[in-house]
Amino acid sequence: MGKQILVVGGGGREHALAWRLARSPSVDGVASAPGNPGMAELGPTFPIDASDPGAVADLAEQQGSDLVVVGPEAPLVAGVVDELERRGIPAFGPSAAAANIEGSKAFAKEIMASAGAPTAGYVATGDAAEAHTALERFAPPYVVKADGLAAGKGVRICADLAEAREAVDDTLVHRRFGDAGDRVVIEEFLHGPERSVFGVCDGTDVVLLTPAQDYKRALDGDQGLNTGGMGAYAPVPGFGLKDVDHLRELIFLPVLRELADRGIPYRGLLYAGLVETAAGPKLLEFNARFGDPETQVILPLLASDLGDLLAASASGQVGDVEVEWQGGAAVTVVLASGGYPDHYATGIPIDGVAAAGKRDGVTVFHAGTRDDGGALVTAGGRVLNITAQGVDVAAARAAAYAAASEITFDAAHRREDIAAGV
Ligand code: AMP
Ligand code: GLY
Repeated sequence: MGKQILVVGGGGREHALAWRLARSPSVDGVASAPGNPGMAELGPTFPIDASDPGAVADLAEQQGSDLVVVGPEAPLVAGVVDELERRGIPAFGPSAAAANIEGSKAFAKEIMASAGAPTAGYVATGDAAEAHTALERFAPPYVVKADGLAAGKGVRICADLAEAREAVDDTLVHRRFGDAGDRVVIEEFLHGPERSVFGVCDGTDVVLLTPAQDYKRALDGDQGLNTGGMGAYAPVPGFGLKDVDHLRELIFLPVLRELADRGIPYRGLLYAGLVETAAGPKLLEFNARFGDPETQVILPLLASDLGDLLAASASGQVGDVEVEWQGGAAVTVVLASGGYPDHYATGIPIDGVAAAGKRDGVTVFHAGTRDDGGALVTAGGRVLNITAQGVDVAAARAAAYAAASEITFDAAHRREDIAAGV
C-alpha cells in the first residue's frame, strides 16, 4: 500500500508539490487543502483554512493521511506541524518555533552568528536611540529591516544616513509594520549576485536540491517592484549541485546543530538566501519553506521519489535517501494579473490553459485561479506558472513561452526575459 498524502496550501508551489507527489511510486493518493483548480485534477480538495492547526489535523485524521506536506509559511508559523505531531501524524515542515527562522530576522541572525555561518555584521534592537547610535557604525548603503513578517515590504536599502534614520523611525516610532516592527535589524550591505539554495532537513542531516534562479522584479531587465517571483529556471550554469556541496558544512549542518542544541530541531525545507561576495558566500536570510516559483522548475528535474524524500525528512532519515536528477532543464514563466504586485482585479476569465498543457513537456501550474461555475477565472496576483522541460535551458525557455502565448486573460502580464541569455 502506498502513501496517502495531504498537501496544505493552494499556490503554484503546492500544485508542483502535489503534481510531483502524484507521480511518485510510493504515493497512492494526493488530497489538498484548500488546493486550487489545478490540484483538483490530481485528487480531492477541501476548502478549509490552511492556517487553522485543528482544522488541518482533523482533515488529516479523516483522510487517513500518512504524511501532511505544508507548503506556505503562514500555516507553519501558525503551528500546523506542531498540532499534527501532537496527534502523531507525520508532517513535512518545521514546527512554529523552528519556522521562526523565517518569521524573525533577529532570531535568524542570532542562529547564524551562534552557528558560525557567514553573514553580514548586524545589530538588532527595539530601542530607537540604540538603533540611531548603531547606524553610525555602518557605512552606506544602509540596510534597515523590520524583524517580523511584513509582506515583503520590511526591508529598506538606504543611500544615506538621513534615509536610514527615517527607516528606523518609520518602523520603531511610527509603527509602520505594526508588531512585525517591534525590533529592527541593521546590517552591513552585501555586494554580489544573489543565490538561493534549498535543503531537505530531518533535524540533524540535510540533502541539497539542485539550485534554481528566480526573477524577483516585476518588469524586464530587473526593473519595477519586488514580487514573490516572476519566473525561474534550473539548472543554473556555474551554480549546480557540485558548486553548492560545500554549503552543507559551511551553513546547513552548523545551523541544524545550533537549532537542535536549543531543543528546536529543524525538519522540512530550509531555504538559504545568500550573496556570493568577493569574500565568499554570506547569508541574507532563511525561509522555512520551498521557494515559489523555484519549486516549479526543481521538482520536474527530480528523478527520485518525492514521497520517500519528504517522508524521510519527517522521520529523521534523509541520509538514507539516494536523490537522483534527470538531465535537461526546466523554465517557468509566471502569468500575473495586470497591476501585480500592487492593486489588481480578480475574477477575470482565463482561456487556453487546457491547450497549453497538452504541449509536449509543458505543465501549467495554477497559482491564483478559481473555478467559477465551471469557468476558470483569476483569483490572485500570480495566476499561472507555465512550466516546460527541454534538453537545455534555451529549449525549455522556447517551449514555456510558446505555451504561455496560448493562454489569454484581460490585462495579463509576464516578463519576456525569463531565462534569456543563459
Ligand atoms: P530579505 O527579505 O532579507 O531577503 O531582503 C529582501 C531583499 O533586500 C533581498 O533579496 C536583497 O535583494 C536585499 N537585501 C537584504 N539584505 C541585504 C544586505 N545585507 N545586503 C544587500 N542586499 C540586501
Ligand atoms: N521566490 C522567492 C521566494 O519564494 O521567497
